[in-house]
This record gives sequence, C-alpha cells and structure tokens, in this order.
Amino acid sequence: MANEIDDLKQRAEKELEAATTPDGVDAWQAKYLSRKGEVKQLLRGIGKISAPEEKKRIGREVNVLNETLEKKLASRREKILGEARARQVAAETVDISLPGTRPSCGRVHPVNRMTREICEIFQNMGFQIFESPHIETDANNFQLLNFPKHHPAREMQDSFFVSEDVVLRTHTSPGQIHAMRECAPEPLRALLPGTCYRNEAITPRSEIQFHQIEGLAVGPDIGLADLKGVLLEFVRQLFGPGRKILLRGSYFPFTEPSVEVDVDCILCDGKGCRLCKDSGWLEILGAGVVHPNVLRNGGYDPEEFSGFAFGLGIERIVMLRYAIDDIRHFFANDLRFLEQFS
Ligand code: DAH
Repeated sequence: MANEIDDLKQRAEKELEAATTPDGVDAWQAKYLSRKGEVKQLLRGIGKISAPEEKKRIGREVNVLNETLEKKLASRREKILGEARARQVAAETVDISLPGTRPSCGRVHPVNRMTREICEIFQNMGFQIFESPHIETDANNFQLLNFPKHHPAREMQDSFFVSEDVVLRTHTSPGQIHAMRECAPEPLRALLPGTCYRNEAITPRSEIQFHQIEGLAVGPDIGLADLKGVLLEFVRQLFGPGRKILLRGSYFPFTEPSVEVDVDCILCDGKGCRLCKDSGWLEILGAGVVHPNVLRNGGYDPEEFSGFAFGLGIERIVMLRYAIDDIRHFFANDLRFLEQFS
C-alpha cells in the first residue's frame, strides 16, 4: 500500500507539471482529486486493511497525499492563470510609437469649388448673388420667360412636374424673374447659381440633376457688346489670359438675339483635338439680349431698360477643365473620384 501511495504521488505530480493550460489542470483534477479520482479510490481501499494500526497509518498517509496534491493543484492553477493573464496584457498593450491612422478629411465637391470660383469672378465685376427656389411655378420656369404652354421650345427641357402648374426648375433662368422683381426699377447685376432638374435618360453626357449659373444685367443701355466684353473677361479669368470667344447665333425664347458662346479649345489652343472634336472650339454657355417681354414680366419698361443674360452648366465647365468624360461621376459619391480635387 505504501508503494502504491508513493507511486500515485509521483505520477500525479509529474502530470500536474505537464499540464500547461486551465483545461489541462481541470482534467488532472478530475483524474486524481474528484469523487471518483484515484486518491479517493485509495482511501476506499483502506477499508480492506485488517490491522487497525496499519489502517490508521495508511489512512493518515493518504490524507497527507490528498492535502499535498490539493495545495499543488492550487499553486499550479495560480501559475497558469497568471501566465494567461500576462499573455493577454501583453497582447493588449498599446504601442504609442506606432504611426496613427489619418482621419479622412472632407473637401469641397468639385461642382461647389467651380461654383465659388465662377461666382467670385462675376462678383468682382459687380454681380450680386441671388437665390431662387428649386421648385417653381410653370409660369416662372416657362411662361414669364416667353415659353407659353405647348411652346415647342419646352421640348428642349424635359421636365419633372410636381403638379400641372408646379415643376422642378429645369434651368436657373426663372431666377431672372425673381431677381428683376426684387430690384425693379433699379439697374441690376445678378448671379444665380443652383441645381436644376430634367427628366433625361442618365448617360455619360446627361443627368437628371445638374448645376447652372445664371447671369443677368439690366440697365438703361445694356446690349450685346456689353455681354461680349463681360464674357470675354470671364473666360480669360477662368481659363487663361490669352483665350478667345466665339458667339454663334442661336435660339432661346427669353433672349433676342440669342447666342451660344464657345471658347477656343483649352487643350489644343484651337488647333483641333479629341476634346474639341477637331473643331478648335468648346461650347460653354448660352446667352443673349433679354427679350422685351421678359423685361416687362420682371417689372422693367423695355423702352427704358435693356439687358443681357447668360446661363452655363457647371458640370460641363468642370468636365472641360479636368478632362472628365462622364457626368455621372459628380453624383456617384465615389471617394476615389472626389479625393482628386483637394
Ligand atoms: N436656360 C438655358 C438652358 O438651360 C440657358 C440660357 C441660355 C440661359 C441663354 C440664359 C440665356 O440666360 O440668355 O438651356
């Protein structure tokens, strides 16, 4: 029996040393110290010993073994938990010398940057910024600008109607009416930037929303020559000092005469390239001399006042400047696109 105790002690101690995880220690405890463990079984065996002295001595020895193993178990467990905790702490340590992750920083959208740039150029020429509503009456968006109901020119501007007489503005031109009614009969120089909406197929060249800037000057003796001078100055400030412009006759119901304005190609200087489709010119805006009906609708007497107006698409200007070939980029919110404009 004494041998058995010694043997068990050695085996148990050796295996406890070999247990390196909390699970390993639990398994060891089940094997040796549980109710069905080997130590309890030894105790049960004592019953068979007949000599009472012997029984007492062996009993004491097994109890000592039990206590010893319990103590060893406790300290082994302590050690293993300590090591696990230390490993965890080491894993969680913050290395304050590591470079941080830069927070990504917002920037102004290219359309807004261009709007600000263009507004500044015209503000320096005495134009004042006005705001006008995105949702317009049919009257402001069309009729007062000389597009009566069923006028064929409405075809150029497929519209989102909110109701029969209310429409999402298809251009910034209705702002002309608002600005004139606010200022008449004083002369005015107004600039109206804003979002416009058209019921178009979405393609690389057209979107259902886009941005325009409308310009309007009204005074006692303002004509086409003034328009030309202002636009030439604008184009030179925006695209470079040597630029030229070309006025081509066109048609808009609210101006007479009407023109489309080109700038000599900013990529090839007019020699002909892919950007200008070999024409040497890039169309940048529509303009003209304000129609007398429109002046009247704005509250000015066309006998006394005249004016010029122009309207440009901001996306188009940004696309020309940065050689962007798809208008849909502006609304896709893809950071890879937007982050290029810092
Ligand atoms: N509103 C026109 C459009 O969206 C652009 C335009 C043309 C505006 C001539 C003007 C103008 O003020 O005079 O197509």
